[in-house]
Amino acid sequence: MDFVFHLGFNEDLAKLELETVLGKAVTKISPRKYLVELDNFSDLNTVAHRLGGLVEIRGKSNDKLVWRHQAKEWYKRDRLKPFADGRKGMLPPKIARIMINLALGKNYTPDQVLLDPFCGSGNILMEASVLGLSLLGTDIDTKQLEGTRKNLNWLGIKNFKLHNFDATQISKNIDTQVNYIVTEPFMGKPNLRPDRIKFVTKGLHKLYLGSLKNWLKVLDSGGTVCMVFPIYSDGKKTYQLSEVIDDKSLVGYNVKTRGLIYSRPNSKLKREIVVLKKK
Ligand SMILES: C[S@@+](CC[C@H](N)C(=O)[O-])C[C@H]1O[C@@H](n2cnc3c(N)ncnc32)[C@H](O)[C@@H]1O
Repeated sequence: MDFVFHLGFNEDLAKLELETVLGKAVTKISPRKYLVELDNFSDLNTVAHRLGGLVEIRGKSNDKLVWRHQAKEWYKRDRLKPFADGRKGMLPPKIARIMINLALGKNYTPDQVLLDPFCGSGNILMEASVLGLSLLGTDIDTKQLEGTRKNLNWLGIKNFKLHNFDATQISKNIDTQVNYIVTEPFMGKPNLRPDRIKFVTKGLHKLYLGSLKNWLKVLDSGGTVCMVFPIYSDGKKTYQLSEVIDDKSLVGYNVKTRGLIYSRPNSKLKREIVVLKKK
């Protein structure tokens, strides 16, 4: 059966998500529209339910609408949740879901554990809960952890653990292995002054390197990390923090994807999404 999948605003990210979840390449037929061949309707529902970048699906032959995303459900998790902290930065749920899918690949099981080591208000954990994964959230700030707890309780989620850990010290504090790490880390305070960027990015480099090294100890072999890295520019130089992954001490990872840029309209800060797989 042939369908046309209509993707949302960030086409590159949404296309990669679609191909990752399907486990095969798709053909572009016009802007944001992709031809997808599926065996049956149950495959269609399973795939559609997972995706964050999908808006609707139509039949190829008759253009009939066969599936539409639940805008109200996405709006509810984005705007109506009890805890939000704009100063810490919040990942839009659709981007969070796309990142989770890039980490999960085609198949996953509900007993697998997804960790967000910089969980903030819990947007990534909320999206992972919709997919039925076991959830582990950690953050250095107890106020954020309480916010995440409130948000997950509000969604009626029971299967989660939250801990107050530094992201560079996770392995000292947990004895379980995790399958996926999906995270938007601390990226410096909002509206960073250009003259501060050079110094702040030095600190961020150290934080990301320390974290990624530590996570090699808690990730199952074959486990994946999907992480946001900021890109700053002070007008003279661009600071692309994903260069961290080229450090020799991180040879334990294979780089699956880098260079995918996501930024909010009018935002000075650009975000690069990187997917790593533990060897
Ligand atoms: C950009 S926010 C994450 C926002 C989250 N993705 C959301 O959508 O709500 C980064 C988080 O990292 C936490 N943080 C900062 N330094 C940390 C560290 N060394 N270890 C763990 N968490 C840290 C902050 O408290 C903050 O909650």
